[in-house]
Amino acid sequence: MTNINGKIALITGASSGIGAAAALKLAAAGVKVGIAARRTDRLEALKADITDKGGDALVLEMDVVDAASVEAGVKKLADTYGSIDILFNNAGLMPLSDVDQLKVREWHRMVDVNVKGLLNTTAAVLPLMIKQHSGHIFNTSSIAGRKVFKGLSVYCATKHAVTAFSDGLRMEVGQKHNIRVTCIQPGAVATELYDQITDPGYRQQMDDLATQMTFLQGADIADTILVALQAPAHVNVAELFVLPVDQAW
Ligand SMILES: NC(=O)c1ccc[n+]([C@@H]2O[C@H](COP(=O)([O-])OP(=O)(O)OC[C@H]3O[C@@H](n4cnc5c(N)ncnc54)[C@H](OP(=O)(O)O)[C@@H]3O)[C@@H](O)[C@H]2O)c1
Repeated sequence: MTNINGKIALITGASSGIGAAAALKLAAAGVKVGIAARRTDRLEALKADITDKGGDALVLEMDVVDAASVEAGVKKLADTYGSIDILFNNAGLMPLSDVDQLKVREWHRMVDVNVKGLLNTTAAVLPLMIKQHSGHIFNTSSIAGRKVFKGLSVYCATKHAVTAFSDGLRMEVGQKHNIRVTCIQPGAVATELYDQITDPGYRQQMDDLATQMTFLQGADIADTILVALQAPAHVNVAELFVLPVDQAW
């Protein structure tokens, strides 16, 4: 088992959903968590929850699309706690629509946050991990990074990019720099992700889905992250494909 007590993590998209749940679970396991997002009021409330339970958290206002904001947050976290051992690239969004609706701004936003944002944080943290010759990077892809669904064409394209990048990154930094890379591919998780769907038909479809099956909770994904983190040092859990039992697709 790898002991993670005292390790330092940067978690993007920590203001809600999977990221917030991961911050709580990692902090409870003794990890010092840098919690990053744009909504700092939510991050402050999360920090209060973590510190009330005896954990250690640092609020980082960060827009992953803005490389300067990412670099400033990474520097603040490394200066405060000494380094960064774990990067959870989790910020993302999923505004569904059919391609013929031409919601071009939403397409670009998904590419900017889900792909370029993840690359920005990876570029900012990787030098620290290379220097210390250790680290663990988690990238949040999706079942939509393995399969394609109607209405999710652009989202699937971004998540396939995350899956591809994760596998390539694992090959390049594993043996050479002793950095583990895990690609997380969840099915349906009950979070705020669906709130950004502006297409009324797809929004209704997601609401209906929630009445037909028991979604995962963010904490379920966080539990699997702990399994990968605590695996023996020579073990790289390369993929976590985690689905609700009810998800038959
Ligand atoms: N829920 C699911 O069913 C599901 C399934 C598979 C994969 N995923 C993936 O899981 C990840 C987390 O999503 P979630 O389900 O937990 O949804 P969520 O509750 O909506 O969380 C999304 C997080 O991303 C952050 N974010 C969005 N844009 C950002 C930006 N420009 N800069 C920094 N942070 C940004 C949000 O924070 P701020 O708005 O405060 O910045 C929020 O904390 C996403 O990558 C998503 O694609 C979710």
